Amino acid sequence: MAGLGMTEEGLGRLVDAFYARVRADAELGPIFNDAIADWPEHLDKLTAFWSSVMLTSGRYKGQPVPAHLKHRDRITPQLFDRWLALWQATTDEMMAPDVAAALQAKAARIAESLQLAMFFRLGP
Ligand code: HEM
Repeated sequence: MAGLGMTEEGLGRLVDAFYARVRADAELGPIFNDAIADWPEHLDKLTAFWSSVMLTSGRYKGQPVPAHLKHRDRITPQLFDRWLALWQATTDEMMAPDVAAALQAKAARIAESLQLAMFFRLGP
């Protein structure tokens, strides 16, 4: 199987499969399931996010940093490693190899900047 391409359709299917795994994960699942009341809306929002990032569609208008800061008491750097491992596994399985590689590189950079915003602060 060649794998899905970098299209709205491909990204939508990836996002649906990825968050199904996240919800079933023992460590990540409870955080998402407690925070998100409307899953169809969240999946649409995250598809819009990836469409904006990878296809420059401009469909996502949100602020990821404050959204994650709200959950700072529950999110750790180790959970980011877990998130990225699930992202790597899901993209490798579903997407064409070049598409998977691009999605993994982008997620790693975004995870890095989210972690800087969440866990690094200047001064006491
Ligand atoms: C939203 C958890 C990593 C992208 C959220 C929300 C939670 C969450 C609970 C819902 C926030 C709310 O409305 O209350 C996590 C956890 C992560 C993680 C536990 C890793 C340990 C990432 C990464 C990305 C990402 C690496 C991007 C590559 C987003 C986006 C939203 C979101 C775009 C929507 C923000 C908005 O409302 O506009 N995340 N996240 N997250 N997350 Fe994450």
